[in-house]
Amino acid sequence: MITTRALTKVYDGKVAVEALTMEIRSGEIFGLLGPNGAGKTTTVRMLAALISPTSGEALIGGYRVGEQDAAIRRLVGIVTETPGLYERLSARENLEIYAKLYGVSNVTRQVEKYLRLLELWDRRDDPVGTFSKGMRQKLALARALVHEPKVLLLDEPTSGLDPQMTKVVRDFIAELKEQGRTILLCTHNLDEAERLCDRILVLKTRPIALDTPQALRRRLFGRRIIVTLEAVTDRILERVRALDFVLDVQQEDRRLVIALSDPERQNPILVRALVEVGAAIRFLTEEAHSLEEIYLRLIEEEERTSSLPSAPDRAEAPSAR
Ligand SMILES: Nc1ncnc2c1ncn2[C@@H]1O[C@H](COP(=O)(O)OP(=O)(O)O)[C@@H](O)[C@H]1O
Ligand SMILES: [Mg+2]
Repeated sequence: MITTRALTKVYDGKVAVEALTMEIRSGEIFGLLGPNGAGKTTTVRMLAALISPTSGEALIGGYRVGEQDAAIRRLVGIVTETPGLYERLSARENLEIYAKLYGVSNVTRQVEKYLRLLELWDRRDDPVGTFSKGMRQKLALARALVHEPKVLLLDEPTSGLDPQMTKVVRDFIAELKEQGRTILLCTHNLDEAERLCDRILVLKTRPIALDTPQALRRRLFGRRIIVTLEAVTDRILERVRALDFVLDVQQEDRRLVIALSDPERQNPILVRALVEVGAAIRFLTEEAHSLEEIYLRLIEEEERTSSLPSAPDRAEAPSAR
């Protein structure tokens, strides 16, 4: 649905986005995850044809960004980082302006639909200047949706919202996916990316990793199972070590941390073996790593590899002495 090839943006000699190649599938929530300054907003602005790339290309729904922008505008809804709304106009008037701009055929019906869906109907005639941050964000979502776009570009849609409103917006995004829309979600929030996204591209000017949240975890950490027992005995430990598919076992008090290659298949056999030697199992869970850890590792990895060729002086220093 969205394809970019070597998409690059340079501002006054400073690279903001470098060689971004990605393919966003129809119907998925695709996360663009990166710290502040990673190039997320720049990417969205290029896709929305608000700024032109320095090089590379982008297509949305087969339309070429920068050439077929009218068609793209019909297909795409955007929520920018700080949505500009007409402060003195009412919520309804704000939506009506956009609906007309987009050539929506039944403006009244579409505006009512989204004001109700986002629970702004009771405040429809109040000036937006009186709205809370959360209400404004909901109105920005309504505005992005009023022309029923198939694709949504959401730039940090929950930033600055309180936990309750964050949940409302996240649930709403999940619903949009259920309706079959394709969503590009920019976020610096790892938890958000993990909860919502089918796939995540970790961006730090350059793309540094692309995978499902689960696969990103597995790739960096392997998989480990934690079995909590009533008591760990030598006999139990020996039995577990004797299983040929067990890659590693660590004992931590009453817990066994066991590395496995394929826990879905191996857990039942492991449990049977444990029960046979009299182990009383209290819990069995997979060790969870936060995306935060994954993210930091990827960034470190990226910094290590990218600093190698660009620091020849440091590498040569010992031989100079
Ligand atoms: N209009 C601009 N002019 C010059 N530099 C910019 C401009 N917009 C963004 N940048 C720079 O580009 C880089 C990427 O910014 P941005 O895309 O906003 O990142 P993110 O949205 O991931 O926080 C940053 O270093 C930022 O300072
Ligand atoms: Mg940004």
